[in-house]
Amino acid sequence: MKDPVAYWVCFPVSLLTTCILCGLAESGCKIKNEVADCSHLKLTEIPSDLPANITALDISHNQLKKLPPANLTKYSQLTYLDAGFNSISKLQPELCQNLPQLKVLKLQRNQLHQLPDNIFTYCTKLVELNLGSNIIEIKNDPFRNLKTLNILDVSHNRLSSTKLGSQQQLENLQELVMSENKISVLKKEDLEFLSNTSLKTFDLSSNPLEEFHAGCFHAIGNLYGLILDRVQLGHNHTEKLCSELAGTTIWNLSLSHVQLSHIFKSTFRGLRTTNITVLNLSKNDLSVIDDDSFIWLTHLEELNLENNKISHLFSNSLHGLSVLKYLNLRRALTRKIDDFSFHWLKNLKYLIMDDNSFPEITANMFTGLDNLRYLSLCSCTTNLKTVRNTTFSSLANSTLQFLNLTKNKIGNLETGAFSWFQHLKILDLGINEISQMLKGDEFQGLNSIEMIYLSYNKRLNLTSDSFASIPNLRKLMLRRVGCSSLDLSPSPFHALLNLTILDISNNNIANIREDLFAGLHKLEILDLEHNNLARLWKHGNPGGPVLFLKGLINLYALNLESNGFDEIPKQAFNGLHQLTNLNLGINNFDLLPASLFHDLVSLKSLVLQKNLITSVEEVVFGAVFKNLKELDMALNPFDCTCESISWFVSWLNVTQADIPGLESHYLCNTPSKYHSSLVMDFDISPCKDSAPFQLLYIISATVISFFIFVVILIHLEGWRIKFYWNVSVNRVLGYREIDRQREQFDYDAYVIHARKDKNWVSKNFISLEGDDQAAFTFCLEERDFEAGISEFEATVDSIRRSRKIIFVVTENLLKDSWCKRFKVHHAIQQAIEQSRDSIILLFLHDIPDYKLNHALYLRRGMFKTCCILDWPAQKERVNAFYQQLKLALKSSSNVH
Ligand SMILES: *[C@@H]1O[C@H](CO)[C@@H](O)[C@H](O)[C@H]1NC(C)=O
Ligand SMILES: *[C@@H]1O[C@H](CO)[C@@H](O)[C@H](O)[C@H]1NC(C)=O
Ligand SMILES: *[C@@H]1O[C@H](CO)[C@@H](O)[C@H](O)[C@H]1NC(C)=O
Ligand SMILES: *[C@@H]1O[C@H](CO)[C@@H](O)[C@H](O)[C@H]1NC(C)=O
Ligand SMILES: *[C@@H]1O[C@H](CO)[C@@H](O)[C@H](O)[C@H]1NC(C)=O
Ligand SMILES: *[C@@H]1O[C@H](CO)[C@@H](O)[C@H](O)[C@H]1NC(C)=O
Ligand SMILES: *[C@@H]1O[C@H](CO)[C@@H](O)[C@H](O)[C@H]1NC(C)=O
Ligand SMILES: *[C@@H]1O[C@H](CO)[C@@H](O)[C@H](O)[C@H]1NC(C)=O
Ligand SMILES: *[C@@H]1O[C@H](CO)[C@@H](O)[C@H](O)[C@H]1NC(C)=O
Repeated sequence: MKDPVAYWVCFPVSLLTTCILCGLAESGCKIKNEVADCSHLKLTEIPSDLPANITALDISHNQLKKLPPANLTKYSQLTYLDAGFNSISKLQPELCQNLPQLKVLKLQRNQLHQLPDNIFTYCTKLVELNLGSNIIEIKNDPFRNLKTLNILDVSHNRLSSTKLGSQQQLENLQELVMSENKISVLKKEDLEFLSNTSLKTFDLSSNPLEEFHAGCFHAIGNLYGLILDRVQLGHNHTEKLCSELAGTTIWNLSLSHVQLSHIFKSTFRGLRTTNITVLNLSKNDLSVIDDDSFIWLTHLEELNLENNKISHLFSNSLHGLSVLKYLNLRRALTRKIDDFSFHWLKNLKYLIMDDNSFPEITANMFTGLDNLRYLSLCSCTTNLKTVRNTTFSSLANSTLQFLNLTKNKIGNLETGAFSWFQHLKILDLGINEISQMLKGDEFQGLNSIEMIYLSYNKRLNLTSDSFASIPNLRKLMLRRVGCSSLDLSPSPFHALLNLTILDISNNNIANIREDLFAGLHKLEILDLEHNNLARLWKHGNPGGPVLFLKGLINLYALNLESNGFDEIPKQAFNGLHQLTNLNLGINNFDLLPASLFHDLVSLKSLVLQKNLITSVEEVVFGAVFKNLKELDMALNPFDCTCESISWFVSWLNVTQADIPGLESHYLCNTPSKYHSSLVMDFDISPCKDSAPFQLLYIISATVISFFIFVVILIHLEGWRIKFYWNVSVNRVLGYREIDRQREQFDYDAYVIHARKDKNWVSKNFISLEGDDQAAFTFCLEERDFEAGISEFEATVDSIRRSRKIIFVVTENLLKDSWCKRFKVHHAIQQAIEQSRDSIILLFLHDIPDYKLNHALYLRRGMFKTCCILDWPAQKERVNAFYQQLKLALKSSSNVH
């Protein structure tokens, strides 16, 4: 956008549209999937900037005084409008006209008073209307046209009558809420407007009801549910209520908190002609239930007696409840339960008896509950110190599947205590005071048991057979049971091959064997937190680290928090391919082995909080962080240097993983200049600048190695380099001599030899000169040097005039100082200057190379092999030697 004017015009507009797309309108409303949430914005007008296609608008908790239909015209697709908690005092019929799709209209907590007859005329699709907590006054028939209405709430409106209309209407109403009004009398004529209605729920709670006129409930088409909670009925009004309900379709009656302290045999008599199925009598301070009080309720399936004070449950108190399935007696019984009290309840499946007080579980307390599946007996002040093999004998014929005995101060389980429960699947013995050696026979007979909860008991000493009688077990909870010694063989869990969950946390366990979990291939969750396992993973542990997680191939979640670990063997998690959640928090880990997480390909959540981790390096965490959904590394003493955390910080910048506390609990500890600053704020850009330094490092390292190589090469092969260097220099500088023809030299070779070898030289070379085919001419000092010329000059001159130079190398030559210092030196000089490969070494003795070098600065390697000749030891080879010498003499002298 080059035009600045266009830019400043378009910028706010584009900003606005982006905001709508991202879900925030200018007015502050949140928009998501055609739903606009404009609540709690102190709005005084209906926002006009919402998308026209919204279907739901929440404009509750604002300061609207009106709902002007014109301002809603734009949002004609609305099916849901919540305008509750405003100050709206007036409605207009056009509202529904402009919102023809409206199904839900909420106007609770406003100041609506008058409801003109035509007010909802056009709300033909309305299903739910909430007018609660207003001050409405019903005169004629404001709801008459709401033919589709299901739910109508007029609670908390100071209504003194149930009369919402003068003629039959609301034929589809299912729920009518009239609680918290001022209705004291239920009159037949006040309910006749519902004469064609089947009410599932009629809520009259918290009304000062005192009178039920004859036939009042019969005025309603069908009444299925009636809620009269917090109505001060007492016994007399309850009885009257029930007689008015006689013959109705009542199905569910709630009489909670109605001050029904005594149930007489007559109280519910009126209900005998109903099919009442659900009855709530909770919170009534009920203390006495007369015998046979419930015989009228032959269809009752659910009875809630929670929160009462029944002091004595007589054997006939529950008489008649033969189809009851669910009985809630939580905090209902205070003193005594007679034997056979429940034997009427042949069909009872659920019995909840928590928080009760009775002296003991007697021999026939539960007799007859043959269909019981679920029994909860938590927190009962009962003398249940010891669970004997007789305690639950009254449930011998039941098919109990669930038994909860938590918080009963149980101290001891006897042999066969649960042998009655062939079908029991879940047994909860948690939070008791059991202190005993578990020999295994305590659980005998529990042939279907899947889960035993034993956590929070005093002291359970495990043995190898503790669970041998229940091999079906899937879940075993042994948290904080003081079983600190598990150093047993075989393991107490050896029989539990189907175990999927094992919790042995908070036991201060220090000693376990490598095979504690052997064979538990189905184990998915293992809780080992708050123990003392640190030693097992130490390098220095006698016998090496104990790899107790070996073989747990299906492990899904592992908790090792708070075990004092500071070392971890690199194979600790090997084979845990399914592990998804790993908690290593609150330990002393600092450095973790690079391959530690190698097998954890499924890990989604990793907790390492509160350790001593200073650096988070890619070699350790790179692979495992890739799939992570959640990471907790908070409260570690991070070392905020490039080497330690730069990779971590760059990962944090791009990861999608959830990292709680990143903005508060990931702080640098070192170096001091960053102490207590956020890890996230660590600037990693200087770390990237270390790249040139790295390059520099590489270059300098290369240079140095090359230098060292050269030095070594020079040391070992320096002579050769020097030699060829000199040869090359001479060549470049033009000393290169044209390979002169043989005839240009006076001699074929100049022979350098020690004086002492004079005789050998004369004998052999002169004989060669005589050979007519070759006809070589040698320069021999003794013979060819002209008299009168100094030996020095003669030597120089002769060498120049010779094509080749033969060194007769003997021990004598090495010792002959004249030869050494001058002749050899000069000969080499000559060879170099003329860039000639003109030297022939003739060894009469076996001279090692180092001696040769030491004495003459020559090495065999300087010369072509054809120019190095050894005088043969055997006579028959002498001819071959001569042949070689001839070849050498004939060879070209050019350096190639
Ligand atoms: C309704 O919209 C008109 C303009 O269309 C505006 O002037 C008025 O303030 C709005 N009233 C409310 C209560 O939203
Ligand atoms: C509703 O309108 C918004 C923009 O005004 C648009 O992004 C969205 O796709 C529309 N939704 C439907 C269901 O048409
Ligand atoms: C209940 O009715 C009986 C007589 O039917 C009466 O004696 C008693 O006082 C009434 N109780 C209450 C609380 O009104
Ligand atoms: C009770 O249920 C039976 C069978 O379901 C039915 O025939 C009878 O009419 C019902 N009684 C009342 C009062 O609704
Ligand atoms: C219960 O235990 C006692 C011994 O304590 C034994 O004599 C009796 O046979 C056991 N009863 C059952 C049903 O196992
Ligand atoms: C169990 O059922 C048998 C046979 O029906 C019966 O004799 C016995 O008394 C019953 N026991 C209990 C405790 O209900
Ligand atoms: C047993 O009851 C206690 C207390 O009501 C509850 O916390 C616990 O979850 C129950 N046990 C089971 C297995 O449902
Ligand atoms: C459990 O074992 C410990 C030591 O191993 C012992 O002191 C304690 O008495 C045992 N407790 C029971 C109930 O067997
Ligand atoms: C473990 O479970 C399988 C299948 O659920 C069952 O067949 C097997 O008998 C069980 N093993 C034990 C030892 O109970």
